[in-house]
Amino acid sequence: MKAFRSRLLWFPHGAAQACLEDDGLLVLERHGCGHWVVRAVGAWQALHGQFADVPTEHLPGRIIAPGFVDLHIHFPQANIIGSPADGLLPWLENYTFPEESRYADPAYSTRAAEAFVDELVRNGVTTAVAFATSHPHSVQALNARAFERGLRLVSGLVLMDRNAPDYLLNPSSGAVGATEQSLRDTESLIQQWHGKGRIGYAITPRFAPTSSEAQLRGAGELAAQFPDVWIQSHVSENRDEIAWVRELFPKAHSYLGVYEHFGLMRRRALYAHCIHFDDYDRAMMRDHHAGAAVSPTSNLFLGSGFFDFVGADRVGFHYGLASDVGGGTSFSPFHTMLAAYYVGREGMTKQGLSLSPQHLWWQHTAGAGQAMGLCGDNGEAVVGNLVEGADADFVVLNPQATPLLARKTAGAQTLDELLFSLIVLGDDRVIERTHLASV
Ligand code: GUN
Ligand code: ZN
Repeated sequence: MKAFRSRLLWFPHGAAQACLEDDGLLVLERHGCGHWVVRAVGAWQALHGQFADVPTEHLPGRIIAPGFVDLHIHFPQANIIGSPADGLLPWLENYTFPEESRYADPAYSTRAAEAFVDELVRNGVTTAVAFATSHPHSVQALNARAFERGLRLVSGLVLMDRNAPDYLLNPSSGAVGATEQSLRDTESLIQQWHGKGRIGYAITPRFAPTSSEAQLRGAGELAAQFPDVWIQSHVSENRDEIAWVRELFPKAHSYLGVYEHFGLMRRRALYAHCIHFDDYDRAMMRDHHAGAAVSPTSNLFLGSGFFDFVGADRVGFHYGLASDVGGGTSFSPFHTMLAAYYVGREGMTKQGLSLSPQHLWWQHTAGAGQAMGLCGDNGEAVVGNLVEGADADFVVLNPQATPLLARKTAGAQTLDELLFSLIVLGDDRVIERTHLASV
């Protein structure tokens, strides 16, 4: 066992209400499979007698908080952050596809994987759900690096067999066509990686326009065959994209309905954006227990629109925050939480509401874990929270990381004031250390 004495932030009730213990003790023990889990959490005064023999690191002036969960990010897009375009479709064509084609080179993938995983960890992200590229070795490179580093990662081979440049479509192999080969590759990557340490697999059709019906059908069949594998894709991000989907799938009730039709809506299905939804779509998300990866920096940067937090809560489906790098502009969860606040304000001001800092923090930790199906409704958690039995993924925050933060946080009278200071002024400088359960 080992323990840390510090200020502690966590969500004891499994809801968007945080607890801050000024003098806390976090006790970890080794799980059977070798990684660290939380054994106890609470006030030092109440716990230290019981754990008196456990070596304890004292971190005065710091805050220990759950590691962040990034619900949607693109491994091959770190280098195209900040590439301006009129909107999603020209951005894909002019920047994204050419950059992703560079991952055809395995050495490029391997070098990029190292930098990508390091950047996540440096920013306090301990669980990430990521797109790789349409090249199977990009998944190999990313997973190998995450496995070695101890990051919890869910990723998948991008399925795209039409409506994109030839150089990026899934390759065919011998007598096997591209569609069939991409599904075989997906299956063998699932067998190789899903459940290896903390690596998970996500069946990853890029978005409906770049997959044939046969590929979407095959993806849905794999999703039924492997029910605890994740699914990830994009939906209802941009108006031109939605019009395109309507042309390609004229019989579908809505864009999201395309995925439902092909068996791609279920628990552990994560859809990025979910902006231009109606209540029919929202109910579909809720009824299938799917989760939305809300990506506010991306939506603001690409001018895609504003996620409707009020609508999501009214109908009641799960969602969490995501960077969506490289449409998104930052790996930092602080930047994402701040952008979510702006987006929330846009939608809620009419009703006199705004997102609370505790709710924003929850959306990027335990709430995101819940959307992934890794946290229950009653506080039990695998990721994103520091409750008994959860993976010991946490960050050590330095609220004095900059002179202004030091002044602001010293003057904070309430938990909301403290969290708001960190959300508005924080970035990677606040993350003093990232502790991963598997190291
Ligand atoms: N839709 C299809 N591909 C992408 C992508 O790479 N990024 C975003 N933001 N949307 C997409
Ligand atoms: Zn994306």
